Amino acid sequence: MEQIYITRRLPDEGLRLLEKYDLDIYEGDIPPSKKEILRGIQEKDALICLLTDPIDKDVIDASPHLKIIANYAVGADNIDISRATKKGILVTNTPGVLTETTADLTWALILAIARRIIQGDDMMRKRKFKGWAPKLLLGQDVHKKTLGIIGMGEIGRAVARRAKGFDMSILYHNRARDRKNEKKLNASFVDLETLLADSDFITLHVPLTTETYHLIGRNEFKMMKKSAYLINTSRGKCVNETALIQALSKGWIQGAALDVFEHEPQVSSRLVELPNLVLAPHIGSASHETRGKMAIMAAENVLAAFRGEIPPNCVNPDALKKEFK
Ligand code: DGY
Repeated sequence: MEQIYITRRLPDEGLRLLEKYDLDIYEGDIPPSKKEILRGIQEKDALICLLTDPIDKDVIDASPHLKIIANYAVGADNIDISRATKKGILVTNTPGVLTETTADLTWALILAIARRIIQGDDMMRKRKFKGWAPKLLLGQDVHKKTLGIIGMGEIGRAVARRAKGFDMSILYHNRARDRKNEKKLNASFVDLETLLADSDFITLHVPLTTETYHLIGRNEFKMMKKSAYLINTSRGKCVNETALIQALSKGWIQGAALDVFEHEPQVSSRLVELPNLVLAPHIGSASHETRGKMAIMAAENVLAAFRGEIPPNCVNPDALKKEFK
């Protein structure tokens, strides 16, 4: 019987599909150490892992039977995909199911930072609310403003659809221009510099790659309006956090709202002390429904690999080509 190592207990919907296999589940509530992953993966046929688990050459080489690495996330930047491909090991992710949920969270962050929801909540809980006042917690309007979307993939488009309800102008920047969706979303394709200079809210929806590492740094913050807000629900390493701290503390931009951090789960204390920032603990896809669907998807990817098929969400189908073996 095939054996599967799972680096955290996933929602039951997914685990039920794997019941007939020998499951070794890491039961901790913080990420397993590399030593633990290396122990767990020994002799296993499949690995189901999280975005917090670095799956490097040592891990990939540790089990001679490994057929598939099923990431429980859409971003697979935690996995050395080229090593897996060379070894004929399939890598899968969970695209699609978390698109709308992540777009919802992006909007929660946009509204929270613009309308100072967190400061208001804090004031109420500390019993500091003395009554309605003309200048109490004034924020910025969201409606009719300009939204700049960097990365117009599925999540970027879902964010843009919601912006229509706020009557916003939409600018986007993407590797490739997408004329079909541009029309549907009433979005204008611009270069990065124009997007940074003209947007009131700038939201990132790019995968982490060598091109997007520190995509937003000192120069980019300097190009933004002083009244601009940066929203990041993609990957923390796409933003240079040192430059972000400077931008927020020196007033180069108005504020930011982050669901992801450069050195996750560590978050710089200088960042945490800033008042013009909303922080969320990487919960973009964290709804009951979506995390259940992601678990089913990861399990189905493993089942397909066990049947000898290319799984539905394979990111490296070349792994099955003979020349890579
Ligand atoms: C992903 O799947 O990449 C998300 O960051 C999870 O929330």
